[in-house]
Amino acid sequence: MSLFGLGDADGGDVDPFGDLVEPAPIMKPHDTQTDFDGLLDAPIKLHEDLAKGCGGQIWPAGELLTKYILRKYKNTDGLQGKRILELGAGGGLTSLGVAAGCDLKGSELFITDMEAMIELLHINVALNGLQDRSEIKIELLDWADPVPEVIAQKPIDIIFAADCVYYEPAFPLLEKTLIDLVSENTVVYFCFKRRRRADLNFIKSIKKRVNMQEVTEIKDDPNYAQYARENLFLYIMTKKI
Ligand SMILES: C[S@@+](CC[C@H](N)C(=O)[O-])C[C@H]1O[C@@H](n2cnc3c(N)ncnc32)[C@H](O)[C@@H]1O
Repeated sequence: MSLFGLGDADGGDVDPFGDLVEPAPIMKPHDTQTDFDGLLDAPIKLHEDLAKGCGGQIWPAGELLTKYILRKYKNTDGLQGKRILELGAGGGLTSLGVAAGCDLKGSELFITDMEAMIELLHINVALNGLQDRSEIKIELLDWADPVPEVIAQKPIDIIFAADCVYYEPAFPLLEKTLIDLVSENTVVYFCFKRRRRADLNFIKSIKKRVNMQEVTEIKDDPNYAQYARENLFLYIMTKKI
C-alpha cells in the first residue's frame, strides 16, 4: 500500500510512546560488520555505540537504503564526479557501504550528522581504512543550523537520508535543511520509517515543497517482507520546478 494512499500508513499509531526512536535493547559498544547480503565483495566494519545517541547503531532503514543504492550504482559510473551528502548518517552505514561498493572517482561524499555523532563517524571511517580517501568528508550538519559553506558553495547532486523522521520538534528543521539543499538537479533518496501517525505530518508537509515518488523496486529486496513489517518506505525527492 502506498503511503500516500493513506491506507495502512494512516491506520493508527504504531508506537504510542512519544517522540523518540524506540529504546534499543541494551547494547554494549561493539564492532560488527556487513556485506549487505553479498552486495559488497568484502564487508564494511561498524563500531556501534549508543552512548551519544540513537545513530550509534545500525537501523533497518539504513540497511534498506544502502542495498538499494548499491544495486543501482555498483559497477556503474553513476556516482562519479557527483557531490553526494548523507544527512543524519549515524555511524555512517550508508556512506561507508557506498564508499566501499561504488566508484566515487572525482566525487565528494559528505557524511553528516549532529555534533554528538562526529567522533563515531571518524572511528568508523578509520575502521574501514578510508581516512585518507580525499573524497570522503565528515562534516557537522545540524539541521538546526545553516548548511555549512563547504557544503553550500556548490549544488549537491545526491542526498541520502535514512530514518531521519522520528522526533517531531525536529521535523521543521529537517524540512528546511532539505529545502536548502535541494536544487534543480538534486536527487534525494529518502528512506522513511513510519512509527507514529505524527510522522506523516512531515511527509505531508515536505510533499507540498518537493516532488516525491515512491520507489517500488525495494519490493525486490529478499528481506522486503521484514522491511514492510517495519513500515519502511523509500522515496525519491526532487525540486518542484
Ligand atoms: C534513527 S538514526 C538513523 C541513523 C542512520 N541514518 C541509519 O539509518 O542507521 C537518526 C539520525 O538522525 C540524526 N539527527 C537527529 N537530529 C539531528 C539534527 N538536528 N541534525 C543532524 N542530525 C540529526 C541522529 O543523530 C541520528 O544519527
